Amino acid sequence: MNLERLDLADDAAVEAMMDLHEASRLADHPYFPADTRQQVLAWHRYGWDGEPPEVWLLREGDAVIGKLGVWFSYRDNLHLGGVNVLVHPEHRRMGHGRALYEAGMKRVREEGRRTVGAGTLDRPEFNAFAETMGFERKSADIHRRQDLLSVDFEDIAAHRAKAEAAAADYELVRVEGSVPEELIEDVAVMTAAINDAPTDDLDIEDEIFDAKRIREWENARLEGGDRIYRIIARRKSDGALAGHTMLGYHPGAPEYANQWDTSVLKDHRGHRLGMLLKASMVEWLREAEPTVRYVDTWNAESNSYMIAVNEALGYQIVERHLGYQRSV
Ligand SMILES: CC(C)(COP(=O)(O)OP(=O)(O)OC[C@H]1O[C@@H](n2cnc3c(N)ncnc32)[C@H](O)[C@@H]1OP(=O)(O)O)[C@@H](O)C(=O)NCCC(=O)NCCS
Repeated sequence: MNLERLDLADDAAVEAMMDLHEASRLADHPYFPADTRQQVLAWHRYGWDGEPPEVWLLREGDAVIGKLGVWFSYRDNLHLGGVNVLVHPEHRRMGHGRALYEAGMKRVREEGRRTVGAGTLDRPEFNAFAETMGFERKSADIHRRQDLLSVDFEDIAAHRAKAEAAAADYELVRVEGSVPEELIEDVAVMTAAINDAPTDDLDIEDEIFDAKRIREWENARLEGGDRIYRIIARRKSDGALAGHTMLGYHPGAPEYANQWDTSVLKDHRGHRLGMLLKASMVEWLREAEPTVRYVDTWNAESNSYMIAVNEALGYQIVERHLGYQRSV
């Protein structure tokens, strides 16, 4: 198998990899915008928050017909490895997926991890591949999308006003870009509250968040060209930070935005802060980035509270994603 490690300094290899991404986008998920080169480079340098994947390309002449990504965290979840296999739509069912997967498993074994995870869109052919590779289904996430041309902003304002009444002791603070230094420690604590979101049957541990990791996440997003919007809920009586929500916009895909994590700390739940934060975010987005039409979000299928908020705000289901694991 002609596998070579991705070299980001090799422009032709990066271009050929982007051609593979584009072929897969058109065949598998045309409802997403194409990645920009800046996003692709940043992703392979920094990953989601400072831990980039190890990537190999499957070459056929100058073309890239497959890709293997392997992930390890060195902060937490030291028992886990992640494997992601992508095969060009015109080269599927020829055994390339299996060969890439086996190369990924070899790497996970070398690293001494005991569980390997993977994710797919919930489609019969991708599920068949995962099951043939010995994976068991462990979680389901739903991708939902809000179409700002069809949601009713008066209705959103009414939800926001009702939430404001239930959260009278809280105020909202808008932060664009990096979090100011004086808030960073508290933001790390709020980010860690995402560990309370359901993880279904996955063999995973709570993730560890500190100020350094938040800065690495910001750096990964900003280097990729994302604009970061964050709204923080703060208790007026003592200034305690209660929860936050984050959204990303990329000028290379001006019609789209990603509604990232929303979390509210345990002591502050029950005041409709989840609704207040998300309704306020879409109102801010409409003013700040008027080109956006679609806002995408992902939740565990079992996260009934967040889903109720999203559905009230007009989000509709696009597709389900499945999480798989197997022991090594
Ligand atoms: C899933 C994917 C990687 C499979 O790649 P591939 O090169 O077609 O896979 P292989 O030819 O090695 O197939 C291995 C086995 O998986 C199963 N399989 C793969 N595609 C299948 C399909 N369309 N229908 C039924 N079974 C399928 C079969 O058991 C197959 O063995 P067989 O051909 O001897 O019957 C490819 O479809 C892809 O890139 N999908 C999008 C990304 C994705 O979902 N990746 C998986 C994340 S780990």
